[in-house]
Amino acid sequence: MLQKFYEDTRNRLSLNKFMKSYHSYFFLYSFVVLLILGFHLNLFSYNKEKAKKLFIEHCSKCHRKDGRGIKGVYPPLKNSDYVQKGDKIELLRGMLFGRSGRIVVNGEVYYGVMTTEIDSTLNNEDISMILEFVYRELNSMDVQVSSDDVIKARKLGKLQPHK
Ligand code: HEC
Repeated sequence: MLQKFYEDTRNRLSLNKFMKSYHSYFFLYSFVVLLILGFHLNLFSYNKEKAKKLFIEHCSKCHRKDGRGIKGVYPPLKNSDYVQKGDKIELLRGMLFGRSGRIVVNGEVYYGVMTTEIDSTLNNEDISMILEFVYRELNSMDVQVSSDDVIKARKLGKLQPHK
């Protein structure tokens, strides 16, 4: 009787132990998988302060620090319908290689030339962060941009001038 009770308890304890270690392995494993996935999708690389600094250095000369641009000369990036309805790869191609021709932003027509020097000075992650800043901070959109997107944009090359 006592012997049986003793054995039962021992079995239960070791089963408990097994379940516990099984659980902790499961959590550890899931955590590692999520971490790797997160890094792959650039979930942790976005850094608002750094992104803002890059934006000011590379874009604010024309689009202004607040992203509102100059009406008729430099189109706005803040609350821009072009950004909001646009395609991120197309926007990246413009950032990488410049863009020109007729473009309508928030109902205003622009015939400008955007030159940029970001291609030779910034890495893919920095470039993706600038566009993510434009989406998140200037357009309140939750869009993630990754280094892979920048690689895709580089492969497609310069945009045709808008007609
Ligand atoms: C030398 C001035 C200049 C710089 C620097 C510049 N842009 Fe532009 N940008 C322009 C002009 C001019 C246009 C309009 C081009 C046209 O008329 O086709 C434009 C258009 C755009 C557009 C599409 C229209 C809109 O307003 O939504 C985006 C997006 C954009 N720029 C993002 C950027 C980002 C991001 C940077 C910084 C990496 C940058 N630009 C740097 C001048 C500039």
